[in-house]
Amino acid sequence: MSVWKSPSAKVTIPALLERKPHGPRIAAITAYDYPSARLADEAGLDLVLVGDSLAMTMLGHDSTLAVTMDEMLVFTRAVRRGLKRALLVADMPFGSYQAGHRGAARNALRFMKEAGAEAVKLEGAHPALVRRLVDAEIPVMGHLGLTPQAVHRMGGYKVQGRTDAAVETLRRQASQLAEAGCFSLVLEGIPREVAAILSAELPIPTIGIGAGPACDGQILVWHDVLGLGQHPPARFVRTYFEGAAHISAALLHYLHDVESGTFPSDQESYHLPRPRPAPVAEEGLAVSTA
Ligand code: KIV
Repeated sequence: MSVWKSPSAKVTIPALLERKPHGPRIAAITAYDYPSARLADEAGLDLVLVGDSLAMTMLGHDSTLAVTMDEMLVFTRAVRRGLKRALLVADMPFGSYQAGHRGAARNALRFMKEAGAEAVKLEGAHPALVRRLVDAEIPVMGHLGLTPQAVHRMGGYKVQGRTDAAVETLRRQASQLAEAGCFSLVLEGIPREVAAILSAELPIPTIGIGAGPACDGQILVWHDVLGLGQHPPARFVRTYFEGAAHISAALLHYLHDVESGTFPSDQESYHLPRPRPAPVAEEGLAVSTA
């Protein structure tokens, strides 16, 4: 039997946990601004992540490493204004949690107090830090597998967890994060068989991206879902709209209309008030125009 999912009820962390055993699966997406957040919320997505992927998708960097706390806060506040129902998770950027628990807690609190995030996400196996944040009433989403902030250690964006030893490491790290109090775990770029094992073993929902169908939910990046990426999408992406092609065609159309003088039309222009009709004189009466 599946847990009833109200189309309008606020998505909470306990409600997501309840969905682990029977579904429905959790549908998550990244968003970085007010209009996208509003559309994701209205479509009924459960969870919106202000991912540090915005370093690449929104700011044009070639990795996620450069984005700062202050930049993440600006985007998170914009997304907050667009959400009514979906759970808002903010991604801790590179450098915001690696240099000590105290600084990490301060930064995580900033996301909640200054931007209205309901949880934070952090990459890698940091169970002691997760425990510290959870003790401070900061809900945490974990993230294992292909963790983009570790691009240099991994030697590129490569599928992880392909050897027996790597699978055992992932199992150990995932269970430590769950025990430390993570309310869910993103599994990125790992074989579907490994994600299936982790999803079966863990008491918390797994949210996959490039991790196959056995996860308790899926997340994709906004630009990938809507065909707004610059590069051909990765194999795990399903693109639901050719956004870049549609936007380019619309912009070309606009350019043509301006250059040819067909925009704006008379209906798209304002007019002076219509001149008042001249008063009509009745027979035998003088009309005063004073
Ligand atoms: O930053 C991001 O967009 C992410 C998702 C891919 C999970 O971490």
